[in-house]
Formats: sequence, C-alpha cells, structure tokens
Amino acid sequence: MEFSVKSGSPEKQRSACIVVGVFEPRRLSPIAEQLDKISEGYISSLLRRGDLEGKPGQMLLLHHVPNVLSERVLLVGCGKERELDERQYKQIIKQTISTLNETGSMEAVCFLTELHVKGRDTYWKVRQAVETTKDSLYTFNQFKSTKPETRRPLRKLVFNVPTRRELSLGERAISHGLAIASGVRAAKDLGNMPPNVANPAYLASQARRLADDFDTVSTKIIGEQEMKELGMTSYLAVGQGSKNEAMMSIIEYKGHPDPNAKPLVLVGKGLTFDSGGISIKPSANMDEMKYDMCGAATVFGAMRSLAKLNLPINVIGVLAGCENMPGGNAYRPGDILTTMSGQTVEVLNTDAEGRLVLCDALTYVERFEPECVIDVATLTGACVVALGNHISGLMANHNPLAHELVNASEQAGDRAWRLPMNDEYHEQLASPFADLANIGTPGAGTITAGCFLSRFTKKYNWAHLDIAGTAWTGGKNKGATGRPVPLLVQFLLNRAGLENLD
Ligand code: BES
Ligand code: MN
Ligand code: ZN
Repeated sequence: MEFSVKSGSPEKQRSACIVVGVFEPRRLSPIAEQLDKISEGYISSLLRRGDLEGKPGQMLLLHHVPNVLSERVLLVGCGKERELDERQYKQIIKQTISTLNETGSMEAVCFLTELHVKGRDTYWKVRQAVETTKDSLYTFNQFKSTKPETRRPLRKLVFNVPTRRELSLGERAISHGLAIASGVRAAKDLGNMPPNVANPAYLASQARRLADDFDTVSTKIIGEQEMKELGMTSYLAVGQGSKNEAMMSIIEYKGHPDPNAKPLVLVGKGLTFDSGGISIKPSANMDEMKYDMCGAATVFGAMRSLAKLNLPINVIGVLAGCENMPGGNAYRPGDILTTMSGQTVEVLNTDAEGRLVLCDALTYVERFEPECVIDVATLTGACVVALGNHISGLMANHNPLAHELVNASEQAGDRAWRLPMNDEYHEQLASPFADLANIGTPGAGTITAGCFLSRFTKKYNWAHLDIAGTAWTGGKNKGATGRPVPLLVQFLLNRAGLENLD
C-alpha cells in the first residue's frame, strides 16, 4: 500500500476515485461544493432527491459524474460539521477504506484530510488516516488453508492537504504514520499467534530478527540458567510448571549521538499463555490468555517503529517471556519467593503471576541506570472493569512522567488514564509471613497490582500501563489491537524532540 500527499483541486484529479465529505443535513463540504459546480449541480441534485443525508459513515458511490476526470466519486457522510471530532474522523476514515477496498477502486484521492477536525492539524489528520487505513486493512490468516482475497484491493491512497505549504508536514505525517503502523502490525501479529507457536523462545527469535534487520538494534537473550545466577527466583517460579523455558529478551536500540546517554527502558509482560497455574482459570475464553504476552508484543512493536524512525535516543526494550502452567513442578499458593530485589513474596494466587515476572525484570533493568522505565502489561481483569476496552490504566511514581504519558496518549489517540497509588492501597498487600503478598485484599485490584510493582521500582522514575482491556478485543472481531504502540511511540517521538512540527 502506497501513500502520498498532494495539494490540488478535485476536478483536476484523474484517479479511480475521489473521496469527499458531506455534512448533515445534506450540506456539501467545500471540496464537494467545487465538484458540484463543475458538474453543474449534479451532486446537489442527488442530495435533494434524498440519496444521502450526510449521517456519519453513510456512503454514496457515484460513477461518471459530469465533467469530473476521475472514474468515481465517493461521497462520505461526516455528520454535523461542528461535531466532527477525532473519534468520528477515525470512524469515517475506517468506513471509507472498507468501501474503497470492496468496490474495486485500487487507487483514490482522499479529501477528508481537509475537513476541520476539532483541535487537530494537518499532520494529525494525515497520520491518523495512515494509521487507521493500515489498521482496517489488517488481517491475520497465516493459519488459513485458503486465504480470503479481495479482487481489486486498494493499493494507492493520496491525501489532499489544503495548501502547498503543508505538503512537507503531510509527508512527515505519512512517514511517522507508517512507522507506527508497522509497529502496530508487528504487535498484532505476535499477539494473534497461537500459544503453541508463540512461546518465550519465539519471542526471543523475533527479538533477534529485529537486530538482524536494523544496525541500530542488538539483542541479548537471558534463559533460565542465567536467571538462576541473577537470583530471579520469582520470575523463574512462574515458569517452572511449563515445559517451555522462560526467556527474557533484551532489545537495545542506540540512536543517541552520545552512545552512553541514559536509556529509556520499556518492559513488557510476556506471558505467552496464562492458564492461571495451580489457581487455574475457568475454561470459558481461556484461549484469550494467549494475549497475555501483549505487553511484550507492544514493546516489540514500539522498538520496531523506533528503529524505523531512527530517533536520536537510546531505548532498551525487555520482553519478559514466560508461560504459566499447572503441573507437578508448578509453583503453589503458599510458596514464599525471594525476589531478585531481596524482598520476599508470599504467593496467595498463582494467577497473579504477571507481577511476579515483572518484579524481577524491573529489578534487572536497574543495571541500565535508566532515564525512566515504563512497563506494559495485561495485568489485571479489574482494569477491564474500571476502564473497559477503551482506555489503558496508568500508574507512576513520578508526576511529570505520568503527565507526559497522558499527553502522549491524547496526541496519539491511544488513551491512558491515571489511577492513584496512595499508602492505603499498599497496606492491602500485607502478608503475615513475607514482606508482601502477591495479591491484595478485595477492592482496587488494578491499583494494588501497580502498588506491588512500585515496590520494585524505587531506584528510577517509573510508570506502569495496564492494558488488560485495550490490548485485544474478544467476540466476533477477536484480535490483538496493537495498543499501546501508538502511545509508546508518541512518547518516544516527544522525548526525541520531534513533536514540534513547524
Ligand atoms: N493476565 C491476567 C489478567 C487478565 C485477566 C487480563 C483477564 C485480561 C483479562 C492476570 O495474570 C491475572 O490473572 N490477574 C488476576 C489477578 C488476581 C488473581 C489478583 C485477575 O485479574 O483476576
Ligand atoms: Mn494470571
Ligand atoms: Zn496474566
């Protein structure tokens, strides 16, 4: 799929399709107006006849519009002009893409990027259009013997910008959008892969491949033997019931002019399958626990985007790969583990395993003297209760870092919302026998999980993203979303000083 930007008038385009907006009720956007004029009122006459009201997502495909050089004109309902916001805009782009793809227009010139979207500039509109397009064309059919095929798929998309001055902004938006989309795709592919294939060693092999693909990236794999030597008892305990060896992949990206500049560190929960262990999960929808490695998948995706963007920063991505299984050698409720930090943890539920893997990974990364650490994890079902599938949970021990991430999440349209971490919540983790328990007393499960992690992140500025609700969707559109790759990459773009676009 090829993207470009252009600044031109609609009547001069010679394309398979031009895409223009119509607002509710039956009001032409300025570009549609221009087409109407040269077609001597053809479009407005259709609207008067009632063919299109302009409701969000309504589509009307026209052929042979008088005096228009393009073969087709796609009129897209955009709702009330004043109500066109980010969400609406993305939905409209999504529906446009599927219509184009299904109606055989292999190329199109899209004028929707010229619409006014509340509080957003051309850069944002073009970048989101690229990301949304890639997102809606994504399929995962590696394991289908016959792959569904689109007869004449969309191949080339031109986004129009209002002035020539904005062309370079648009080009930058395309390159950023494509880099993000490639990270999102990598994260989705990894997430959707079945757990008999995507085990911790598979995560490691993907990490190694990234180093093969980019000179700026190197990879190191830490297996169980080395974890033992490092004292990562808690991490190892979670994996000990599985035949698949636990592996932690360290992906190092060096882009900073000073190779010794402190790195930003991303740590992803990589439970390639979470059965719950001895505290086994109910069987309904247990297949979805293959997605319990989506934290690692998104860290991997963000590292890929980063390498594509070649940002002038140093970043380390950690994929904490592990499988949580019951078995004769599995860890048990009641076990007391000595974590790499020296703190002891009483296991009260083997299904609260993510934090036991992450705590040692978070201690391990101290050696990098990080600028900051962000962990990403499908950590708690409680987060789905609190925020649903729309917004990721965010906790942090550093206010500026939390604000930075919330801002990046809004810029990227991949939202996160901060939850508190007061002392009262910490008290819920008390254990009679060890320094802390691996689950809290009832209530605020997302926060107590975050509090647990925070006991292991005292040496640096840290934030935690709980993506249990946002990393994948269930039901008939089951699949990984690639979130929060856009948020993470936006954060990195901002850190690299590339957020100022003019
Ligand atoms: N991976 C799960 C969290 C999860 C559950 C994410 C459902 C998305 C959907 C995690 O390892 C887990 O099992 N957490 C437990 C913690 C509890 C035992 C304190 C949970 O949320 O039920
Ligand atoms: Mn679990
Ligand atoms: Zn889990």
